[in-house]
Amino acid sequence: MTGSWTALAYLVAAVCFIVALKGLSSPRTARPGNLVGVTGATIAVLVVFLSERPDNVPYILAALVVGGAVGAFSARRVAMTAMPQMVGIFNGVGGGAGALVALLELGRGDGAQWPGLAVAAFTVFIGAVTFSGSTLTFVKLQELMTGRPLTFPGGRPVFIGVVAANVALGTWITLGGALWVAIVLAALSLAAGLLLVLPVGGADVPVVIALLNAFSGITVAASGYVLGNSLLIVAGTLVGASGMLLSRLMAKAMGRSLANIMFGAFAGPSTLGATTATDRPVRSAGPEDIAILLGYARKVIVAPGYGLAVAQGQHALRDLAEVLDGRGIEVAYAIHPVAGRMPGHMNVLLAEADVPYDQLKEMDLVNPEFKTADVTLVVGANDVVNPAARSAPGSPIYGMPILAADASRSIVFLKRSLRPGFAGIDNELLHDPKTTLLFGDAKDSLTKLVAAVKAL
Ligand code: TAP
Repeated sequence: MTGSWTALAYLVAAVCFIVALKGLSSPRTARPGNLVGVTGATIAVLVVFLSERPDNVPYILAALVVGGAVGAFSARRVAMTAMPQMVGIFNGVGGGAGALVALLELGRGDGAQWPGLAVAAFTVFIGAVTFSGSTLTFVKLQELMTGRPLTFPGGRPVFIGVVAANVALGTWITLGGALWVAIVLAALSLAAGLLLVLPVGGADVPVVIALLNAFSGITVAASGYVLGNSLLIVAGTLVGASGMLLSRLMAKAMGRSLANIMFGAFAGPSTLGATTATDRPVRSAGPEDIAILLGYARKVIVAPGYGLAVAQGQHALRDLAEVLDGRGIEVAYAIHPVAGRMPGHMNVLLAEADVPYDQLKEMDLVNPEFKTADVTLVVGANDVVNPAARSAPGSPIYGMPILAADASRSIVFLKRSLRPGFAGIDNELLHDPKTTLLFGDAKDSLTKLVAAVKAL
């Protein structure tokens, strides 16, 4: 394949990536968008084989087969609720690969000029930070270790010291340092990644995943510069920019700044509250009573959360909404941007059950409507309706915009116990005189409610 054909194919692949990102911005176009992205990636891989005359073809093919098999297997097996950790580990692998490529290029030492050496050192640094940081986010989200922020005395100076040492080593490499300097840089960068993520509390880890996703993109772009491959630069820049935007959006949805999420715990207070179940009284009822409340309402707003995904109750929820709709009751779904455990979690979950997309209302749009709702049905959600976000300075979720469920005439919670949500703090709304709890697994409760409303 000649150089101009290669350049043209890379251009087509780059356009595919941009169109794919655009497609992924709406649930309606996400599937075709994904396919366009896969097409772009396939073109890119084929062109590398046709144009670059890669050495070690059998090894590369073997790696492709093994990597493809692991990817396909885990994508099919992973539960929706475990998606953030999977994204986390994939980011880490991308960053680690970029760091290894740069290390190998530095090892070849074929007379690169200082700008090339500087970018290679940067690639080692950011790639290794991404690898160790992402691995730690995986371990935290998989609950293989505590999700609480882990700090230690002098944590901040140690982190700053490690980063400063990395800058010094990077400068040394740029001035022509040997391979062992790059290896020390890689080791210290791995430590920097761990120090970066250790103080981040569990509830904030997804934001860090988005940030590490941006880092993995930057690593790919930088390794594209090291290898002289324009497609890697374009693809990496796209991932870097979209990851950065996503991190900012998620931080905003949680009412925090990125700096506060990353470095807040160094400053002292924990970002995760105490995980205590409260023993204060609440009002609970059976499905028949709740069915009367729902079946004679004019307007019901559903506030879904993580528990709906755990229970896989989305189909039963749609059935309930249809039964209510059949009785002439207006039903809407209130979507909080961080309900669940990843961006868009509720949108994807409800789309899976064919809930009409126009019934899903974003938080800002739906919040003024709560005061006109007869019932807010909170299904497996907690933090995203917790008024402490408004009224309790010092609470880990203080400042996070929430669904105004407390403004509706009555509130029904479907949950299994009085245990708190992800942030680990009590929810005053559970004790509100307007609130009734229906204890049990969300799917079971919803199925019972469908039958009970039908029987009215
Ligand atoms: P949470 O506050 O975590 O509350 C989920 C509730 O679901 C819990 O109170 C739990 O109570 C209940 N639950 C769990 N399994 C259930 C089941 N099988 N049946 C019925 N109920 C069940 O969830 P949320 O309101 O969606 O808030 C999301 C939280 O996660 C926020 O703190 C957010 O910051 C954080 N977060 C969000 C993201 C993104 S980007 N979406 C990522 C990571 C973290 P029981 O145990 O009593 O049943």
